[in-house]
Amino acid sequence: MCGIIGISSNKPVLTDIINSLKKLEYRGYDSAGIATLSDGEINEIKSEGRVDNLEQNFDLKNLKGNIGIGHVRWATHGIPNRINAHPHSSHNVSVVHNGIIENSTILKKTLISKGYKFKSQTDTEVIVHLISENLKTAELEEAVTKTLKQLHGSFALGIVFKDIPDLIVGARRGSPLAVGYGPNENYLGSDSYALKSMTNKITYLDDSEFCIVKKDEVNFFNEEGKKINKKILELSSDEESYQKGDFKHFMAKEIEEQPTTVKTGIKEYLDNVNNDVNLFNFPWKIDEIKSIKLIGCGTAYHSCLIAKYWFEELTSLDVNIDIASEFRYRNNRFKNDSLYIFVSQSGETADTYAALDLCNKNKMKTCSVVNVIESSIARNSNYVLPIHCGPEIGVASTKAFLGQILVLYILALKLGFLKNELEKIKYQEKIKDLKNLPNLIEKTLLLDSHIQSISSTFNEAKGSMFLGRGSSYPIALEGALKLKELSYIHAEGYPAGEMKHGPLALIEEGMPVVVLAPRDNYYKKTISNMQEVIARGAKVLLITNKSDDEVVSENIWETIEVESTNKDLLPFLLTIPLQKLAYYSALKKGYDIDKPRNLAKSVTVE
Ligand code: G6P
Repeated sequence: MCGIIGISSNKPVLTDIINSLKKLEYRGYDSAGIATLSDGEINEIKSEGRVDNLEQNFDLKNLKGNIGIGHVRWATHGIPNRINAHPHSSHNVSVVHNGIIENSTILKKTLISKGYKFKSQTDTEVIVHLISENLKTAELEEAVTKTLKQLHGSFALGIVFKDIPDLIVGARRGSPLAVGYGPNENYLGSDSYALKSMTNKITYLDDSEFCIVKKDEVNFFNEEGKKINKKILELSSDEESYQKGDFKHFMAKEIEEQPTTVKTGIKEYLDNVNNDVNLFNFPWKIDEIKSIKLIGCGTAYHSCLIAKYWFEELTSLDVNIDIASEFRYRNNRFKNDSLYIFVSQSGETADTYAALDLCNKNKMKTCSVVNVIESSIARNSNYVLPIHCGPEIGVASTKAFLGQILVLYILALKLGFLKNELEKIKYQEKIKDLKNLPNLIEKTLLLDSHIQSISSTFNEAKGSMFLGRGSSYPIALEGALKLKELSYIHAEGYPAGEMKHGPLALIEEGMPVVVLAPRDNYYKKTISNMQEVIARGAKVLLITNKSDDEVVSENIWETIEVESTNKDLLPFLLTIPLQKLAYYSALKKGYDIDKPRNLAKSVTVE
């Protein structure tokens, strides 16, 4: 994680660096810092906490310079305090870093023996001294090439030099880095989002490349230090979708945007005339795919879990799922007839990217379901299925989750149909139902005030549980994740049928338990499990879908009914009350909803 910005201009850069850092805070927000070059000196400021603290703690008028780097941190090595905040500077070099230098301890020992002094507990500081050391015997390009070869681990770097005051060096291995082009100035940034207000002309660095950014030119180099040419991409400029508008939080806006997410996905993937799914340029013949492996982290992993139920229901494919950080280190049996699907909102999650890289190295068929189509995961997959939900800024994923499960459902439908495992008539009926989904989501969003009133009970409790069976089980996991990450309330998601094997012991008088029991094949079983927790004193919030049959159970604390539809689509609707529950509970507690403690949106370290 961590966010990097660098600007080389013919005018003062401070204001643009501050503004970009504020945008980058979704990548990390435990400390912030800036270094500029002026009057032959490196000027450095840093603060614990948010970028706002920089503005409060320093007289920024004094921070002059037409060239500078900035950083927001998500701590890996060293506690989040001012000393460990980036940039890390010596008298002649200043560095901002995203990633982890795995051999920093060994490098530090060698550098100390050469007389270098260290101030912080970070791994980053070794880069400052290493490059100074290499510059003693080599010109810039050669010194950078040598330094990068000495570093193990992952990094995106921005480096400025007191004695070479007209440039910024940027470098990438594992962690993302982009270059932007403006009028009489050029930029370095962790992503295009940070640069958006300044430019829409972007070049992404690939692994092991570095660049030298001057105000009027940018040069790129490969890992051997040889100059290379790179393409400039022109991104669409949709600044408005990066604003909160009338909403109090990005999360609130992103929850409400979900009908549009689904509408856009439908428009992109459904052929209205033929009632069919369009998978443009799908690169494989259907018989080449006998099994599917879905891989992701966090909320994206929950999308994989739901998709497993759909793929198994709609196709005869063998389906496996994996958490990326587990997959990448296991002794996997790679299968040529398997399709490896990587699900990621950002397309930059380090573990998911590493899992993809592993599959690419083993020449597997790789497909990614991503939101950011310029991301590393998208650029390195054989085939990309974008979710088209627009920028998601809130750290807790909401609309991207719905976008991911929509695309995975559409893929399951198409593969089932192509494999002759889903009859045409059923296939087309399901497509028809899908078209009505945005409308049903809109209605579900109206349940707002009921959910808001329920949320205080969760805040008063020591902990809570979320239960479901079948495809409602991953939704239970997602509901519990949302509540814990936003409200810091202990929440467990469980398959309802597993309660008797241990978790039932946690139930005590008044404990809020969310039971997801839509009217699907599991309904009766889930209701029985619900009665078991009620009997032990739980305060049950039942979430089901509307039906003429009343729920036959006594002592249910609260019930929320979502709209009824084809059972495949119920996970979409059940998700929404859970997102709102977490939102309102955090709102009442006064927590920072878009930036929960200890977390970051884009997890670019493993
Ligand atoms: C972080 C975010 C989550 C997200 C996960 C995976 O933990 O806070 O919201 O689900 O990363 O991110 P990705 O970008 O790969 O979907």
